[in-house]
Amino acid sequence: MRASRSLLWKLSIIVLLAVFSQPSFSGDTGSSDETAETGNGHEAAEMQPQRAGNRKGRGGRGGIAQVAEMNWPGKWELFLKSSGVSAMHAILLPLINKVQFYDATIWRISQIKLPPGVPCHVFDHVHNKVDCWAHSVLIDIESGHIRPLSLTTDTWCSSGGLTINGTLVSTGGFQGGANTARYLASCDNCNWVEYPKALAAQRWYSTQATLPDGTFIVVGGRQALNYEYILPEGMDNKKLYDSHLLKETTDREENNLYPFVWLNTDGNLFMFANNRSILLSPKTNKVIKEFPQLPGGARNYPGSASSALLPIRLYVNNPPVIPADVLICGGARQDGYFRADRLKLFDPALNDCARISLNSKRPAWKIEKMPAPRVMSDTVVLPNGKFSSLTARNMEHLDGA
Ligand SMILES: *[C@@H]1O[C@H](CO)[C@@H](O)[C@H](O)[C@H]1NC(C)=O
Ligand SMILES: *[C@@H]1O[C@H](CO)[C@@H](O)[C@H](O)[C@H]1NC(C)=O
Repeated sequence: MRASRSLLWKLSIIVLLAVFSQPSFSGDTGSSDETAETGNGHEAAEMQPQRAGNRKGRGGRGGIAQVAEMNWPGKWELFLKSSGVSAMHAILLPLINKVQFYDATIWRISQIKLPPGVPCHVFDHVHNKVDCWAHSVLIDIESGHIRPLSLTTDTWCSSGGLTINGTLVSTGGFQGGANTARYLASCDNCNWVEYPKALAAQRWYSTQATLPDGTFIVVGGRQALNYEYILPEGMDNKKLYDSHLLKETTDREENNLYPFVWLNTDGNLFMFANNRSILLSPKTNKVIKEFPQLPGGARNYPGSASSALLPIRLYVNNPPVIPADVLICGGARQDGYFRADRLKLFDPALNDCARISLNSKRPAWKIEKMPAPRVMSDTVVLPNGKFSSLTARNMEHLDGA
């Protein structure tokens, strides 16, 4: 199973996105009452820059949306011929305007060597075998300058996120990387600092999410039907919390890997695994409610759908409830992995896109169809409040409203 999984992961690019919640962005999507304003996805190119400005009077604080050029149709440009390291994981470090790419270390090869003065990683002390390749690079998005960084614990199918001060915290991974928390601070000469015993459980294909105080929770992973909280840097966590959701949704295909975890506006966590979801309190670790099951198949890894928390309207003063909607698009039938792997039956991916309002009195999935089926896609929130769902094969805009 692992061998064939490796084929799957090679195809996947997990893009970790730092989403800036600018109030002026959020006016363009959110609840369905503004569907008409956003129109269909193909209108994205025609949106005028002043739209965002118009919203200012409604409580937006201006900012990036006002100056962002919204009517530019876009153009692909070859920026770098080779990054040296594959972007299995990629994240923008906004304070230094650099993108961090990092890959699995297990193959002990990349296209870029560690810089002079950085010692090679000894991965086999008995036979003194060393790996002198870099598996992490920091790329300056203005100049294209590449800085290779030493990263020794395996980040293959790890998870990660940014702290309030812009530090990248990466958790879990393969073998010796599974219990690791790694820190890469935002400065021009910062290097990774790795803590191989920081996590209580081995985390491979787990999800990291940000809590209201800016710290992190790490949820699930292979043979890890539980979750834990990341302690301050340098401290090793010992405390695990069992997850009934993960226990009840695991199956032959392990369809609950890389669960979707989003911080709700009430401070609780929306957790989605396989076809079920809950709202969990990170304070009491109690399940507050279970949402209706999402019919149609499995939505998490290996037959991954993509998910997004829709932009949140923060401009209403002291509303009793701040709406928060989650989108889940694509996926695969529950036995899809087994059928492909064992029976060589390759079924189409799912083409539905489901949306739920977490804080509504009677939350229900609203299901729309996408023009094409999608598996292992990434959903990106665009500055105009629309979503782009991308896979290697083609790219498409979804109407976020
Ligand atoms: C930034 O956050 C990280 C993770 O919490 C912490 O280890 C580090 O010390 C912080 N750096 C500064 C300059 O506050
Ligand atoms: C969710 O998945 C389980 C099996 O994993 C299945 O029995 C159940 O019918 C599914 N729910 C829906 C609504 O399809």
